[in-house]
Amino acid sequence: MTQKKIEISNDHKIIRHRLPARLSHWLLVICFFTTGLSGLAFFFPDFSWLTEILGNPRLARFVHPFTGLVMFVAFINLALIYWRHNFPEKSDIPWLLGIVEVLKGNEHDVADNGKYNLGQKMLFWSLILSMLLLLVTGIIMWRQFFSHYFPVPVIRIAILLHSSCAFMLFTGIMVHIYMAFWVKGSIRSMIEGWVTVRWAKKHHPRWYREEVLPKLEKELAEQQSKEQEKMDKNKSQLRTEAN
Ligand code: HEM
Repeated sequence: MTQKKIEISNDHKIIRHRLPARLSHWLLVICFFTTGLSGLAFFFPDFSWLTEILGNPRLARFVHPFTGLVMFVAFINLALIYWRHNFPEKSDIPWLLGIVEVLKGNEHDVADNGKYNLGQKMLFWSLILSMLLLLVTGIIMWRQFFSHYFPVPVIRIAILLHSSCAFMLFTGIMVHIYMAFWVKGSIRSMIEGWVTVRWAKKHHPRWYREEVLPKLEKELAEQQSKEQEKMDKNKSQLRTEAN
């Protein structure tokens, strides 16, 4: 029996984000907005009306550290799933050198991206840094349970660092959201989990070649040989019936 050449259509759907990653991501988004907006209200009195999002100002002060903790846990879960895809590699250099073309939307002409491009990787590590610092400084500032263990100068430094990291996180996430809308098909991948082969070849060709394609070819070959087996069985059954 000869194996037919495997043809993969550009419209074929492939998995980019599995359910645990997607659930963590959207929990992270909910916590980011509730924690971030209530934090903004504490920091700038002009935004104090935002505390209404969490009920009232008193409740907002109480809930903010808890939603912050849930945000941290959801983030760490997502980061553990994707950390190995975010190591900078030699092949990321052309992306950096071709940044003008990347910004013009011609990324596929200059870079051979893995699962994430260098911009996404840099954002990933800056998120790790800001999340860790937000956690540590947030605990030092947490009046209800911990702040009385620390001297006042330490609490003041913690407040300064906490707000600087929140600003860093907020700026990074605004860029992240803009990029998510800019690259068509990206948000759907975080909602439904899949992208097309065409999308993968255009935005993350090395990821497609090295990680997706070998598995896809194996899967399709198995499917093809099962179908072939079924057809051969049917043919021999028909032959016996005819005899
Ligand atoms: C409305 C808000 C958001 C939208 C629309 C959004 C959208 C997305 C999309 C589409 C991806 C997949 C990118 C790809 O497959 O190439 C992604 C990945 C990711 N997002 Fe978001 N996101 C949002 C908020 C956040 C927030 C608040 C955080 C963290 C605080 C976050 C952290 C991440 C991380 C860590 C990844 C994986 C990227 C990597 O590993 O490099 N996102 N997001």
